[in-house]
Formats: sequence, structure tokens, C-alpha cells
Amino acid sequence: MCGIIGYVGRDLCIPKIISGLEALEYRGYDSAGIAYVENKKIKIIKEKGKIANLKKLLDFNANTNLGIAHTRWATHGAASKTNAHPHSVNSFTIVHNGIIENYSELKESLIKKGYIFKSETDTEVACAVIADLYKEKKDILLSLNAATKVFRGSYALGIICADDKNTLYAMRNTSPLIVATSPSGNFIASDVPAILKYTNKYILLDDLEIAKITADNITIYNKDLNIVKKEIKTFEGTFEAAAKNGYEHFMLKEINEQDKVFSDTVNYYFDGSIASLKKNFAFLDKFSKIDIVACGSAYHTGLVGKCLIEKYASIPVNVEVASEYRYKKCFYDNDTLVILVSQSGETADTLAALRKAKSDGITTMAIVNVVGSSIAREADHVIYIKAGCEIAVATTKAYLAQLAIFSLLSIYLGYKNKGIKKSELEKIFTDLKKLPKLIKNTINYSELYFDIADKIYKNKQIFFIGRGIDYALSMEGSLKLKEISYINSVAYQAGELKHGTISLIEKNTPVIALATDTELIEKTISNIKEVKARGAYVIYVSNEEPREKFYDELILLPCIHPILESILTIIPLQLLAYKVAKNNKCDIDQPRNLAKSVTVE
Ligand code: M6R
Repeated sequence: MCGIIGYVGRDLCIPKIISGLEALEYRGYDSAGIAYVENKKIKIIKEKGKIANLKKLLDFNANTNLGIAHTRWATHGAASKTNAHPHSVNSFTIVHNGIIENYSELKESLIKKGYIFKSETDTEVACAVIADLYKEKKDILLSLNAATKVFRGSYALGIICADDKNTLYAMRNTSPLIVATSPSGNFIASDVPAILKYTNKYILLDDLEIAKITADNITIYNKDLNIVKKEIKTFEGTFEAAAKNGYEHFMLKEINEQDKVFSDTVNYYFDGSIASLKKNFAFLDKFSKIDIVACGSAYHTGLVGKCLIEKYASIPVNVEVASEYRYKKCFYDNDTLVILVSQSGETADTLAALRKAKSDGITTMAIVNVVGSSIAREADHVIYIKAGCEIAVATTKAYLAQLAIFSLLSIYLGYKNKGIKKSELEKIFTDLKKLPKLIKNTINYSELYFDIADKIYKNKQIFFIGRGIDYALSMEGSLKLKEISYINSVAYQAGELKHGTISLIEKNTPVIALATDTELIEKTISNIKEVKARGAYVIYVSNEEPREKFYDELILLPCIHPILESILTIIPLQLLAYKVAKNNKCDIDQPRNLAKSVTVE
């Protein structure tokens, strides 16, 4: 949802800023721009489309040591060169990630004061607000601080002022922003991968803080403009971890990392004993009702979590999309736990849902990938997945790691609540140990999934069906396919199809049918026969060898304990989506209209 970066130091800034910006391109890629100080003048260059288009216009040897840049995911105004950032009003030039919610009333009053706007963006309005306050206060810090009281909404801002051309300013509210320090100078960025080529030392800026940054100094002010001492954190990952390493796409690389991600995540909480799970999850003991709240794929892991927790631990679980949850009436009990799931830890709606639950006095727990992200920091309890940097917009390894966490939670709560007996627990532990290898083997069957993809990629619509947990996984399979291949795809509960949707099934319509829940396989097979009878091209995904042939393609998965099975089931669906998108020549890592981190409502 827009990426921002800035640098001030002793090196030429354009090469550093652009390589950092490229690492943020997953956040938005419909236009990009840069502002830098050269010969005491602020120069702005922007272009529509990806950063590659902007690069063609730049002189990488330009004699400049200070600059800010932006890659955009349009919110206010079309993706155009005029709306691209940076925006400039009087002495101020800014880049922005977030939404200034009261921008239209601010714009109206600024127009009355004589300001003229070139773009349709809220960012240009924010810049004018700062410039207008500066007229009165004549001090940059005082003006920025006063602006925090005028803005409503979310922002991470990188700011240059023509009256102080050796200094970079930055401020944030809700949208993520880090300040990083390296031997050659200092950075601001929306996310850590942007600076990893140069440094792994960074500071997390908190809401309403303002950073004043020169080549040698970083000063952070709180909302009362007192200087605050901030912890300098060290990021554990490497730059290589955020690179493609020979894979054609980040998505493929990330799918292939899933055995390791699974091991890293599980081993962090589980040493082979139930005692280790108790040590990590005992805080859950007092809750007898759970709400899981998330968006997109993270919501889908919540649906899987619900199936597992209800089945094994007999705890009722309500799963909701965060953008709905944040505005609805919630019926909390004293023993309700709200679980927020988010890869980025910055998704605006999920963060708002967290804040809503907290303000109602409800205990919150977050399952998050990005360490130190807003959701991780604000939740009462955090369970980190160990997925590492995920760059592809379509999540794969983070989704699988979230599934692993829900499996672990269900094992712990299931055993505690006597839904899992000791002998069954031993079988689960044995399967847990086997899983990394099984994940690798399942990925290694990619040729089979790719062959199937080659047969179906030209279709205009592709259906997914399943019951129970298989339906939850179908939802994710369908999302993966449509978000990267742009093929219309819907997931249905297998038994529901005949209540309307079956009218869409024609000769050769691909139907991907999941049946891994042994208790429901026969029922699902009956539903598959219904679509087969109407000409569907059935791709059957199961962990049980079928006794008759009611399908066109078969993906047979290893059979493991059902509390873990979903971790394998999702893999062929990810690879199928990948190959369908590849055959259709889609931009796999950066699908149109999307961005990885959705930091606006
Ligand atoms: O960072 P989050 O997990 O909170 O993101 C939630 C969704 O935006 C995300 O899962 C989205 O649906 C992905 N594009 C799915 O691949």
C-alpha cells in the first residue's frame, strides 16, 4: 500500500534510494517518483507504471546525497504521473503512505486561502497543510507537530524542506515507518527489506513521533516535541533472503521454502513434548470463546483454525473478515479471546479490529510474521510465525506457517480439553516430525500440478469445492488462482452447489474438488458426481485412493493426521495457481491492482 524510502548521507543517494524502492515495490506499483537535492535545488522526477519506468528517467550519477522516493498504490486519484508522489507545496516536498481521511474538508479550506492543487491526492493536501502551518510557525518541527493535530487518518511521511536541505524529516501515524542507520548515512523506509543491502540496524518509529535525520544524526521527538531515546534493533534476516536466488518468481521461491518455514515455525514452539506447547500456549487456558479476525488469506487460515479448534478442543470459534468486524456489534464474554492473523502485521482493518477488541477490554492475541509490526506490538500476546521476508503479493509460505500455528494451538487445546487422547497425541507428534519431508515431497510433484494447469489455464472460470476444512482450503486455493491469474474462480461448499451455482457448470468447466476429511469424503464424492454428470472437468485432490473413477485428474496426497493434513493440501493448489498464471503471462509477483501490505481501510 505504497512504499516510501529516503536517504541522507555521504554517498550518492539515487542508487541507494532506487534499490531500496525496488525492494518495496510489492507495496504498490502503479507509479513511482523521487525528489532529491542537487545543487541546492529540489528536483522531482516521477513516472506512471513500475519503478523500471522511473529508472529510465534518472541520472544515477547525479550529485545528490539526500532524497525521498515513493512507489504508489493509488487511493485518491487515478494512477497517473500527476498523482504520483512526491508532491510539493511551497518549501515542502513529501512522500506519503496512508490516507488523510479529512483531506477533502482540509482541501476546501486551503482553496479558500488561495492554494491551488495540481493532483487529486490527499497527499498534496497534507503537504499544503504543512506548508500553511509553516507560514505561521516558521519552524519545521513545530509545523510538522501541529500537522499531526490537523490530520485524521493514517500516514507515514518522508519530508524535505527547501529551507533545510541537509535534513530529512519523517513522521507517522498508523502506517509503518522505520528509520535506519548505516556507516555511510541514514534512511527512512516503509519496511526493513528496503535497507537490508546497506544496514540491518533500524529504529521503529511510533505513532505521532517525528524524526529529524541528517547524515550523522537521528533525533526522534515525541508528540510533545521532547527528544525520545529509541532502541536500535538488529534485523536477523539477510538481503539474500529477500532476493529471488535463481527462481523465476518470488512466489515459486517462497512455495519452495515451505518445508523450512514449517520447521522453523513449529520448532520455535514445540520440542517434541506437550510440555513445550503448554509453556508457550498456557495463557490460552482461560478462554472458552474465540473470535478470529483477519483479511484475505489470513482470514482463510482462520477458517481452517475454526474447523480444528472446534473439532478437537470443543471451543466455539467465530471467524470474521476484519473490515466487517471493526464496525459490527460484537457479543463478547469475559472469557472471549480475539485472535488477529496478519502476515504483515500492518493491515489497517485488522489493526482496527484489534484496537476495537482492546478498547472493549477483551484479550487479544496476534499471529504475525513481521517482527515489531503494529499488530504485533499492540496485541496482548504475540505468536510469531517464522516465514521470513515474503515478497510475492500472493502469500504462500506465511499462509502455510499460519496453518502450522493453528495446528499447534489445536493440538494443545485439544489435548487439554480431552478431545485428543494420549495415544492419538503420539501419532500426531510422529506425523509432525515427518511433515517437513512430506511438504518437500508434495512440492516435488509440481510437474503433475503443472501438467494439469496446462490443461485448464485457458478456461474463463474455475470452481473449487469441498466440505468442512476442505471448503476452507478451497477458499484459499480459489483466491490464489484468481489474484494472480485473473481467472474468475469461486469456492463453494460441495453440498451447496446444487442450490444455484451448478447452473454455471458446462462441458469442461474445471472443478477442483478437495476431499481430505475422511468423515466427509463419500458425501463430497456424491457432489463431484453431480458436477461430473453435467460435463465438469474434475480435478480431484484427496489423501485416499479413490475406488472408482469419477474424476479427470487425480492429485493424491500423503495421508497424515487430519489436524495436520491442511498443510499438505494447500501446496498443489498454490502450484496450480502459479502455473495457470504463468501460462497466461500474468505478472505473478505483482498482480494488477494489488499490493502486499494493505495499510488503508
Ligand atoms: O498482511 P496480512 O496477512 O494482514 O494481509 C492480509 C491480506 O491482504 C492478504 O492475505 C491478501 O489476501 C493476499 N494477497 C493473499 O495472497
